Amino acid sequence: MNIDYDKTLSIVGETKNGKIIAEARFVELEAHETHPEFAIVVDENYQNFGITTFICTLLMRLGKEKQLKGFKGYLLSHNIKVLRVIKNMVSSSTRIPSR
Ligand SMILES: CC(C)(COP(=O)(O)OP(=O)(O)OC[C@H]1O[C@@H](n2cnc3c(N)ncnc32)[C@H](O)[C@@H]1OP(=O)(O)O)[C@@H](O)C(=O)NCCC(=O)NCCS
Repeated sequence: MNIDYDKTLSIVGETKNGKIIAEARFVELEAHETHPEFAIVVDENYQNFGITTFICTLLMRLGKEKQLKGFKGYLLSHNIKVLRVIKNMVSSSTRIPSR
Protein backbone atom coordinates (compact mmCIF):
# COMPACT_ATOMS: atom_id res chain seq x y z
CA MET A 1 0.00 0.00 0.00
CA ASN A 2 1.37 3.42 -0.92
CA ILE A 3 -0.41 6.32 0.71
CA ASP A 4 1.05 9.71 -0.17
CA TYR A 5 -1.68 11.85 1.54
CA ASP A 6 -1.90 13.96 -1.59
CA LYS A 7 -3.11 11.84 -4.49
CA THR A 8 -4.20 8.97 -2.25
CA LEU A 9 -5.78 9.30 1.15
CA SER A 10 -6.94 6.31 3.18
CA ILE A 11 -8.76 6.08 6.51
CA VAL A 12 -8.99 2.83 8.44
CA GLY A 13 -11.22 1.85 11.34
CA GLU A 14 -9.68 -0.30 14.07
CA THR A 15 -11.03 -2.21 17.06
CA LYS A 16 -9.54 -1.60 20.49
CA ASN A 17 -7.25 -4.56 19.80
CA GLY A 18 -5.89 -2.99 16.63
CA LYS A 19 -7.79 -5.19 14.17
CA ILE A 20 -8.58 -3.25 11.00
CA ILE A 21 -12.31 -3.59 10.29
CA ALA A 22 -12.92 -0.79 7.76
CA GLU A 23 -11.11 1.12 5.08
CA ALA A 24 -12.11 4.03 2.85
CA ARG A 25 -9.92 5.87 0.42
CA PHE A 26 -9.90 8.27 -2.44
CA VAL A 27 -7.37 8.13 -5.24
CA GLU A 28 -6.54 10.80 -7.79
CA LEU A 29 -5.74 8.76 -10.88
CA GLU A 30 -4.83 11.89 -12.85
CA ALA A 31 -3.04 15.00 -11.63
CA HIS A 32 -5.29 17.75 -10.18
CA GLU A 33 -8.42 15.66 -10.47
CA THR A 34 -11.43 17.44 -8.93
CA HIS A 35 -13.44 14.21 -8.48
CA PRO A 36 -11.07 11.44 -7.35
CA GLU A 37 -12.19 7.82 -7.23
CA PHE A 38 -13.60 6.57 -3.96
CA ALA A 39 -14.08 3.14 -2.35
CA ILE A 40 -15.02 1.73 1.06
CA VAL A 41 -15.30 -1.66 2.70
CA VAL A 42 -16.44 -2.59 6.22
CA ASP A 43 -16.01 -6.02 7.83
CA GLU A 44 -19.35 -7.91 7.78
CA ASN A 45 -19.34 -8.26 11.58
CA TYR A 46 -19.21 -4.48 12.00
CA GLN A 47 -21.76 -3.35 9.43
CA ASN A 48 -24.89 -1.30 10.26
CA PHE A 49 -23.20 0.54 13.12
CA GLY A 50 -22.72 3.77 11.17
CA ILE A 51 -19.02 3.18 10.43
CA THR A 52 -19.33 4.01 6.74
CA THR A 53 -21.38 7.09 7.49
CA PHE A 54 -18.76 8.25 10.00
CA ILE A 55 -15.68 7.52 7.86
CA CYS A 56 -17.20 8.98 4.70
CA THR A 57 -18.19 12.15 6.53
CA LEU A 58 -14.56 12.50 7.60
CA LEU A 59 -13.32 11.75 4.10
CA MET A 60 -15.68 14.37 2.64
CA ARG A 61 -14.38 16.94 5.12
CA LEU A 62 -10.77 16.16 4.17
CA GLY A 63 -11.74 16.38 0.50
CA LYS A 64 -13.22 19.83 1.06
CA GLU A 65 -9.97 20.94 2.68
CA LYS A 66 -8.17 19.77 -0.47
CA GLN A 67 -10.62 21.84 -2.57
CA LEU A 68 -12.07 18.71 -4.18
CA LYS A 69 -15.47 19.11 -5.85
CA GLY A 70 -16.65 15.56 -5.11
CA PHE A 71 -15.90 11.87 -5.47
CA LYS A 72 -16.71 9.34 -8.14
CA GLY A 73 -17.15 5.62 -7.74
CA TYR A 74 -18.27 2.61 -9.73
CA LEU A 75 -20.93 0.48 -8.07
CA LEU A 76 -22.92 -2.53 -9.07
CA SER A 77 -26.48 -1.33 -9.63
CA HIS A 78 -27.81 -4.02 -7.26
CA ASN A 79 -25.58 -2.79 -4.40
CA ILE A 80 -28.61 -1.24 -2.73
CA LYS A 81 -26.90 -0.94 0.64
CA VAL A 82 -24.14 1.42 -0.42
CA LEU A 83 -26.56 3.40 -2.59
CA ARG A 84 -28.80 3.97 0.45
CA VAL A 85 -25.88 5.03 2.65
CA ILE A 86 -24.59 7.46 0.01
CA LYS A 87 -28.08 8.84 -0.65
CA ASN A 88 -28.57 9.49 3.08
CA MET A 89 -25.19 11.17 3.32
CA VAL A 90 -25.68 13.37 0.29
CA SER A 91 -29.10 14.50 1.47
CA SER A 92 -27.60 15.51 4.84
CA SER A 93 -24.25 16.79 3.54
CA THR A 94 -25.24 20.42 4.02
CA ARG A 95 -24.98 19.74 7.76
CA ILE A 96 -21.30 18.75 7.53
CA PRO A 97 -19.15 21.55 8.90
CA SER A 98 -16.11 22.36 6.79
CA ARG A 99 -13.80 21.98 9.83
C1 LIG B 1 -21.80 -0.77 1.80
C2 LIG B 1 -21.00 -0.79 3.11
C3 LIG B 1 -19.68 -0.06 2.92
C4 LIG B 1 -21.87 -0.09 4.20
O1 LIG B 1 -21.14 -0.09 5.44
P1 LIG B 1 -21.82 0.15 6.89
O2 LIG B 1 -20.72 0.53 7.82
O3 LIG B 1 -22.65 -1.01 7.25
O4 LIG B 1 -22.76 1.43 6.63
P2 LIG B 1 -23.50 2.28 7.77
O5 LIG B 1 -23.51 1.49 9.05
O6 LIG B 1 -22.92 3.66 7.82
O7 LIG B 1 -24.96 2.42 7.18
C5 LIG B 1 -25.75 1.24 7.05
C6 LIG B 1 -27.07 1.43 7.81
O8 LIG B 1 -26.83 1.54 9.20
C7 LIG B 1 -27.54 2.68 9.73
N1 LIG B 1 -26.87 3.14 10.95
C8 LIG B 1 -26.82 2.40 12.07
N2 LIG B 1 -26.19 3.07 13.05
C9 LIG B 1 -25.84 4.26 12.55
C10 LIG B 1 -25.16 5.41 13.09
N3 LIG B 1 -24.72 5.44 14.35
N4 LIG B 1 -24.93 6.46 12.27
C11 LIG B 1 -25.35 6.46 11.01
N5 LIG B 1 -26.02 5.39 10.43
C12 LIG B 1 -26.26 4.32 11.21
C13 LIG B 1 -27.55 3.64 8.55
O9 LIG B 1 -28.61 4.57 8.67
C14 LIG B 1 -27.80 2.69 7.40
O10 LIG B 1 -29.18 2.38 7.37
P3 LIG B 1 -29.97 2.13 5.98
O11 LIG B 1 -29.43 0.84 5.41
O12 LIG B 1 -31.38 2.03 6.44
O13 LIG B 1 -29.70 3.28 5.10
C15 LIG B 1 -20.72 -2.24 3.58
O14 LIG B 1 -21.91 -2.98 3.51
C16 LIG B 1 -19.65 -2.96 2.75
O15 LIG B 1 -18.46 -2.95 3.10
N6 LIG B 1 -20.06 -3.61 1.64
C17 LIG B 1 -19.12 -4.33 0.76
C18 LIG B 1 -18.21 -3.38 -0.01
C19 LIG B 1 -18.98 -2.41 -0.85
O16 LIG B 1 -20.04 -2.71 -1.41
N7 LIG B 1 -18.44 -1.18 -0.92
C20 LIG B 1 -19.07 -0.12 -1.70
C21 LIG B 1 -18.46 0.00 -3.06
S1 LIG B 1 -17.12 1.15 -3.01
